[in-house]
Amino acid sequence: MKRFLATLAAACLLTGLFAQPQLNKDNIEEVIAAMTLQEKASLLVGGARAAMVNGVTSGVAAEVPGAAGNTRPVARLGIPATVLADGPAGLRINPTRANDKQTYYATGFPVGTLLASSWDTALVEEVTKAMGNEVLEYGVDVLLAPGMNIHRNPLCGRNFEYFSEDPLLSGKMAAAYVRGIQSNGVGTSIKHYAVNNQETNRNENDARVSPRALREIYLKNFEIAVKEADPWTVMSSYNQLNGEYTQQKKDLLTTVLRDEWGFKGIVMTDWGNKAGTVKSAKAGNDLMEPGNQNEIDRIIAAVEDGTISQEELDRNVRKMLQYIVRTPHFRHYKYSNKPDLKAHAAVARKAAGEAIVLLRNENKALPLKGDEKVALYGVSSVDFVAGGTGSGNVNKAYVVTMDEALKDAGFQLDAALESFYRKHKEYDKATRDLTAGAGWSTWGGTKLAETAIPVQAINLEAGNNDVAVVVIGRNAGEGADRKMMDDFELTAVERELLQNVSTAYHALGKKVVVVLNIGGVIETNSWKNLVDAIVLPWSPGQEGARAVADILTGKVNPSGKLPMTFPVNFMDHPSSANFPYNYTPTTNRGFGRGPRVPQKDVDYTDYAEGIWVGYRHFTTRGVDVSYPFGFGLSYTTFSYTKPVVKATADGFEASVTVTNTGSVAGREAVQLYVSAPAGGLEKPKCELKAFAKTRELKPGESQVLTMKVSAYELASFNEAHSAWETAAGPYTLLFGASVSDIRTTAIYKQKTAQSWPVHNVLALQQ
Ligand code: BGC
Repeated sequence: MKRFLATLAAACLLTGLFAQPQLNKDNIEEVIAAMTLQEKASLLVGGARAAMVNGVTSGVAAEVPGAAGNTRPVARLGIPATVLADGPAGLRINPTRANDKQTYYATGFPVGTLLASSWDTALVEEVTKAMGNEVLEYGVDVLLAPGMNIHRNPLCGRNFEYFSEDPLLSGKMAAAYVRGIQSNGVGTSIKHYAVNNQETNRNENDARVSPRALREIYLKNFEIAVKEADPWTVMSSYNQLNGEYTQQKKDLLTTVLRDEWGFKGIVMTDWGNKAGTVKSAKAGNDLMEPGNQNEIDRIIAAVEDGTISQEELDRNVRKMLQYIVRTPHFRHYKYSNKPDLKAHAAVARKAAGEAIVLLRNENKALPLKGDEKVALYGVSSVDFVAGGTGSGNVNKAYVVTMDEALKDAGFQLDAALESFYRKHKEYDKATRDLTAGAGWSTWGGTKLAETAIPVQAINLEAGNNDVAVVVIGRNAGEGADRKMMDDFELTAVERELLQNVSTAYHALGKKVVVVLNIGGVIETNSWKNLVDAIVLPWSPGQEGARAVADILTGKVNPSGKLPMTFPVNFMDHPSSANFPYNYTPTTNRGFGRGPRVPQKDVDYTDYAEGIWVGYRHFTTRGVDVSYPFGFGLSYTTFSYTKPVVKATADGFEASVTVTNTGSVAGREAVQLYVSAPAGGLEKPKCELKAFAKTRELKPGESQVLTMKVSAYELASFNEAHSAWETAAGPYTLLFGASVSDIRTTAIYKQKTAQSWPVHNVLALQQ
């Protein structure tokens, strides 16, 4: 009967018996009332494969080829389709189109980890303002970014897309990222909500995490981004959390995200088609992506049999319509398909320069003069990694390589060496094209393995050149985690190269500089003392190699700092005990051999380390590291004055004056860590609570940096009370150049204890 009436109503509407409301921001309820069940269900399911579906088709997937998905239109009610495309290091769409001479390249910006290394929210906003302009001008409504899962373990394959091991830094970076993109009138999708900290079995893995670790570490960054930047959308992750898929987990998607944090936008699934569509819709996951007919059918059937109430259905539809009225497609924005790629390339270069981290600089090895004869080693010098692989790979027009960048900067490269690596790359590409044809696709390509250089050649080159620059490269990406051997650890060929180059050049009193063109943390402790300088540009985007050259010549004074710890050994991270660091999908998972035994770290992962992630563990337990969180050198030096601390209505404000005490201009990122008073909950030795970066200060110049912290931001999560709690007493404020280089301290006295009760949810399954 219901279905009959709905069909009749639709038929009447179609024949024009009743006026059909056309969607605008003020008539959403009227439009909902006019929608049929079929239309409502189709609005909750993406239409990337709409061409295969009877009835509602969008054609939008064809409008922006290479976009990851879209939402379906309801033309009769003025509801347009909207387009969703990846991120996060730039817009990911196809660069070319059939029967079309125009190209549609997007700018390859620095990856998330490098952006976070800038410790500069204004810079991140500048980058994403430019990135968001490409989103708008290529006809896309939502960028599926930023990626913001916590760096729980160095080997997560997608860490390069993510910001940091610390939730505050990650949250502030994400908020800046969202503000920049959304300033263009397009949306973001902060992802992957939540606890998607490994790629191995990412579709099924059950992350088992305590409520405290969730609240303080894995959700805190999302909380900050939601509260500070109002992202239009959130992407729920593939994995399970404490026994339920996150996209079906009501306490995560509704109780915490909406009721507690006030999120107003839509939640969409990560790209799949899980059977639990109905549970997802009820839990508050508004949109299923990329969308399949069976999901529409499931929703219709569940509404008809009452499993999904009319209220629940309309709640999700309402959110979708509230989202749609914000989009460029809704405002009929006439996009140009011609963003200013040249201007954006300049932004990408500048951003990389402001974020690159100088890890080592013995005896002022850097900067170089700029006209030296350079022997440039490593296949990555010609096979430079601008970003990672997978959905995060941007189809950029070009990637400047290290050899090109150094020559353009004025260095004289050892031509024979350069030509050797170039030929090696060509040969590899040719054989790869012949054999697989793949590997160099838009997914991001395959990284060339390092190739050996005979020691005799190195000895000769040491005589002919002034300095050696060795580029060590790593590529990682979606779908697989990195391995401990030959990835976190150097390969035997890389070790030998570093050893032989160092011996040969040092014998002649010449310097060796290493450039780490990597996506995630690698082992550095065993070899760092072999070389004079280490520059860490991560995967710095299409212009990143030029930014490295700017650092090598001193045109840019490095001011980036590490957003995570570089441990001495991989196993020093407590999470390593519960991480699939040596898993290959072919290993026995029990298929076809009787009942499947859930496999540790694959089917489920115990986050047994709780809150002891990254520096929280290393500082509290006094474990040595290779490079601490927040570390980064400069070509100048800075002094910090004694801070001034003032109480505010809800916490405190602390100011510190930073002075450039060296001889060249530079910038300094100051980190404010806080040590809580003893007693009560066990807490880390210190936690990052605020940070600020100076502008470029000339030698002798000073700047006052002011940082605000509220009592709520000082709180820890007490599971026994299901409440955030800030104890009364003296809090030590530690102003550091890194977590282990505290320059000055002060005390803030919290007069009374404060508590913020929240819902008792997200529990671990017993
Ligand atoms: C990834 C997401 C991405 C989506 C759409 C998924 O496989 O996990 O990060 O946004 O695909 O391409």
